[in-house]
Amino acid sequence: MKRFLNKNILITGSANGIGKATALRIATEGGNLALIDNNSEKLKELCNELSFFPIKFVSAVCDISDYNLVKICIDKLAEELGGLNGLSHNAGILRVYKTLEMNLNQWNELISINLTGTFNVNKHALPWLLKNKTSYLVNTSSSASEQPHPWLAAYAATKGAIKSFTRSLFIEYFQHGLHANCVLPGGITTDLANSFSFPEGVNKELIKTLDPLGQKIYAEPAKAASVIAMLLSEDAEHINGTEIAIDGGKV
Ligand SMILES: NC(=O)c1ccc[n+]([C@@H]2O[C@H](COP(=O)([O-])OP(=O)(O)OC[C@H]3O[C@@H](n4cnc5c(N)ncnc54)[C@H](O)[C@@H]3O)[C@@H](O)[C@H]2O)c1
Repeated sequence: MKRFLNKNILITGSANGIGKATALRIATEGGNLALIDNNSEKLKELCNELSFFPIKFVSAVCDISDYNLVKICIDKLAEELGGLNGLSHNAGILRVYKTLEMNLNQWNELISINLTGTFNVNKHALPWLLKNKTSYLVNTSSSASEQPHPWLAAYAATKGAIKSFTRSLFIEYFQHGLHANCVLPGGITTDLANSFSFPEGVNKELIKTLDPLGQKIYAEPAKAASVIAMLLSEDAEHINGTEIAIDGGKV
């Protein structure tokens, strides 16, 4: 299956986890890649892996919370590839705080990377996407936006806002050929998910209620990448303004 031949896809958070798996999936299907991440070492590692694929790829080390830098990077990458057909926006962070103990800097860090970062990336990619008759944009939200979870109030708020933001993009731009959807991962085995640790003194009984199926359900990043790739392809022609959960049924 070569759904991305002659297509240029921008992927943020591409150096690790779900973003990296998505980059490799698109490359396997012949797509060219514009890669953004703030981890230069891991981005270099991905570029080494991609050098074995018969595709074009370009990359930029960029902090997505920096509005002006994001514009410079996206414009440069898009110009180098000759345009953009799709965006998979994955870059994000997870932080775990008891709400009463969270300070303003901690709140603002999550908002500026997860939420303002989403605005920055989408805002600067959109002019490139809308040059095409049809384009595809997939923002990565989270199952935490649906399932209330203690200690994730700020993270969940950013992920809920990403859904609302993406639906708004859909209604504003579908007449220009834009497909704007979200994925809601849960339990994907990445460094981000593995970094989750409970604050001290948590209620263990409460934790059990967060696992309604009675067992831990995990999946490799490639399982999330296959859904994101579908949403970036013409297979998603009739999917717009919605969300797809990738959580094994957890929520
Ligand atoms: N893993 C899961 O189970 C899960 C569940 C729900 C949502 N998500 C979401 O999926 C997305 C990808 O997460 P992942 O699990 O692959 O995590 P990950 O930590 O493996 O990958 C995240 C990538 O984003 C990059 N990044 C972080 N902050 C950045 C910044 N300011 N600028 C540029 N790049 C930045 C990191 O360097 C990293 O390469 C995130 O938005 C996360 O919230 C993941």
